[in-house]
Amino acid sequence: MTLSSPNHDASLEVVLRTLKEAGAPVSGEALAARLGLTRAAVWKRINRLKAKGYEISGSPRRGYQLLACPDLLLPAEITQDLKARYLRGPIHHFPTVSSTNDLAKDLGRREAPEGTLVVAEAQSAGRGRLGRGWDSPPGVGLYVSLLLRPPLPPTELPQITLTAAVSVARVLRRAAGLTPGIKWPNDLLLNGKKVGGILTEMETELDRIRHLVVGLGLNVNNREFPPPLTDTATSLALATGRPFSRLKLLQAWLEEFEELYDRFLARGFPGILEEWKNYTVTLGREVRVRQGLGEVQGKALEVAPDGALLVQTRTGEIVRVTSGELAPGPGDNPEAPGLA
Ligand code: BTN
Repeated sequence: MTLSSPNHDASLEVVLRTLKEAGAPVSGEALAARLGLTRAAVWKRINRLKAKGYEISGSPRRGYQLLACPDLLLPAEITQDLKARYLRGPIHHFPTVSSTNDLAKDLGRREAPEGTLVVAEAQSAGRGRLGRGWDSPPGVGLYVSLLLRPPLPPTELPQITLTAAVSVARVLRRAAGLTPGIKWPNDLLLNGKKVGGILTEMETELDRIRHLVVGLGLNVNNREFPPPLTDTATSLALATGRPFSRLKLLQAWLEEFEELYDRFLARGFPGILEEWKNYTVTLGREVRVRQGLGEVQGKALEVAPDGALLVQTRTGEIVRVTSGELAPGPGDNPEAPGLA
């Protein structure tokens, strides 16, 4: 897919913003003057907004009035009232893409600035960690990728990933009043089931990160999951019995992540790691970690300052695990949720 210019809908966004801010009918003439367009061109844009799901009344005497907005992640909606200072675009929004991470990486190669965001209503080939897929049905989840250009060596990638997990945990707490868990390194859990995940991917140059993409998948209003996710995945709506605004959650994520990312760049990882530990369900548990062809078994003792998981095996040896899939080990409490 070719990338659309983030500004290609700029006039549409101005129409929308004007109608929203007015909260009352706005004449076609006033809109035309504001946009420097003809009234016929305004009418075309009104129809395009209607086609996207906005309810707009129109009468020749009173003008156009916005009656209801769909829960769409349009750029103008995302930036409106967004408090994030620089993680706020340019925003590329698509009804469907293969994977927002792939598009964001492509933009990274083309020198797009830090804060560039790729947002999709659905993904046809959403990707998870370790080569898995990410279920991305239309309109119910958040499928977002953020481009970063941290002035850091590649070895700091795991710390940024853990920082992203903390930012999502904060969002679930702040925006939804929920108490999430984090399964190392960055699975977000509610009631022991997976509600969100993060896929960070980077391109490097000698010993520095050239660009980095943080891809967030969050199950928001999903009512069901296909097998084999039926018993292991959940959504905010399933966990609480009520729907959530994906827009508000996305705005909250950009704000929380920016605050943590600033802190990480200014003061490093230790404070953020402490916060990560407050959320984690992993430490102290008996775990098995599949790594390539091998497997490490033991007790998840600690997370090292660089984000690696330290596992103590039965022989007492402490093994550093930097990636892999965590599962309950023999002897793990079957009642304790979250590792399966
Ligand atoms: C995981 O395996 O837990 C990570 C899932 C990450 C999914 C998100 S959805 C937006 C972005 N685009 C992708 O293809 N993957 C990430």
